[in-house]
Amino acid sequence: MTKVIIKGLTKQFGKLTAVQNLDLDVKDKEFVSLLGPSGCGKTTTLNCLSGLETPTTGDIFFDDQRINDIPSKDRGIGLVFQSYAIFTHMTTFDNLAFGLKIRGTPQLEIKREVERMAEFLDIKEVLHEKAGKLSLTNMQKTAIGRTLIIRPKVLLLDEPLSNLDAESRNVMRTELKRLQKEVEQTTIFVTHDQLEALTLSDRIAVMSAGRLQQYDTPETVYNHPENKFVANFIGSPSMNFIDCSLKLSDERAYLVNERFTLDLTSGRDRLTEFANSPELVLGIRPEHLNVTSLSDLPTQPRGSHLSGSVFMTEPLGYENIVSVQVDGLMLKATVPATSSFEVNEKVSVTFDEDHAHVFSKNGEEPAII
Ligand SMILES: Nc1ncnc2c1ncn2[C@@H]1O[C@H](COP(=O)(O)OP(=O)(O)OP(=O)(O)O)[C@@H](O)[C@H]1O
Ligand SMILES: [Mg+2]
Repeated sequence: MTKVIIKGLTKQFGKLTAVQNLDLDVKDKEFVSLLGPSGCGKTTTLNCLSGLETPTTGDIFFDDQRINDIPSKDRGIGLVFQSYAIFTHMTTFDNLAFGLKIRGTPQLEIKREVERMAEFLDIKEVLHEKAGKLSLTNMQKTAIGRTLIIRPKVLLLDEPLSNLDAESRNVMRTELKRLQKEVEQTTIFVTHDQLEALTLSDRIAVMSAGRLQQYDTPETVYNHPENKFVANFIGSPSMNFIDCSLKLSDERAYLVNERFTLDLTSGRDRLTEFANSPELVLGIRPEHLNVTSLSDLPTQPRGSHLSGSVFMTEPLGYENIVSVQVDGLMLKATVPATSSFEVNEKVSVTFDEDHAHVFSKNGEEPAII
């Protein structure tokens, strides 16, 4: 039973604020990802949890115990880094046994625990091989196994998959997901890969420049991004953004730019607050754009639509990404793999207002719709 509470954590290195006033609670057994671009403060946050760094201000609690002044070795944490922290000259068995040995665990119990961990991680066949000879995935499994075997209160993982090649990375992502489900271990996982965060986490803390931008489930972070930064960082291909302004007339509200008028009267209450800040950004995910060849349309479509021409198509096998150029704007849409568009083909792009997001131009201001 370990929950982690971070209250008002700030870490400064000289003049640079690496983490700014971070509040985060991680429930017992929860798997939380710290996600954000390079330099946003993920590792610094993790290092404050592990004791490798001392917070400038703020408190960290494991359950009800404030751990700021507790030495790293007494915090009960397990750390796994990007580089494989294993002894390459020792066998997989000895690597897994290491933590138990230095705790004075009896031989028989060590053997039993190591075999159980090897079975669990599916590395039984390589138990007696030198760890330096293992495949990359088995090395990383060994690194995770030797940390898990001592049953840490909190498991801290800093980009453990980023040194792996694409295939091993996919294998290990699935393995981590299985581990997460089976070991029921409070885990904080650092990554800059939004797909890893979306697939593995119970909740994702999205960070930018040392500040927390949103902390919620993958589903909510994806579908209801709290600001433009989050909307842009999560999802691949990224959300499309179109600059526009607000027009209020009678009881209706429209987002307009030189290419289209979108009736967003359903969100009028929230939009009216922005009547004096005309610089807004409309955001639509690629899967919410519909692309139709103009030759397939009997008449010009009505409602919100943009006319453009196909710039490029990227077949992914299960679907295609179509880039459509609309004047100076490039929009990306995902379309069924069965649809075929020619480069330069004239198309119409439509979208449903229910899937429209509206942000202010400043990336960190709260989303409007
Ligand atoms: N020991 C240090 N001394 C000075 N500056 C540091 C130190 N550690 C980190 N920083 C700075 O703090 C900021 C946050 O760094 P941090 O390593 O936490 O980022 P990160 O999100 O883990 O990035 P990455 O994805 O590249 O690992 C960066 O600007 C970094 O240069
Ligand atoms: Mg880092």
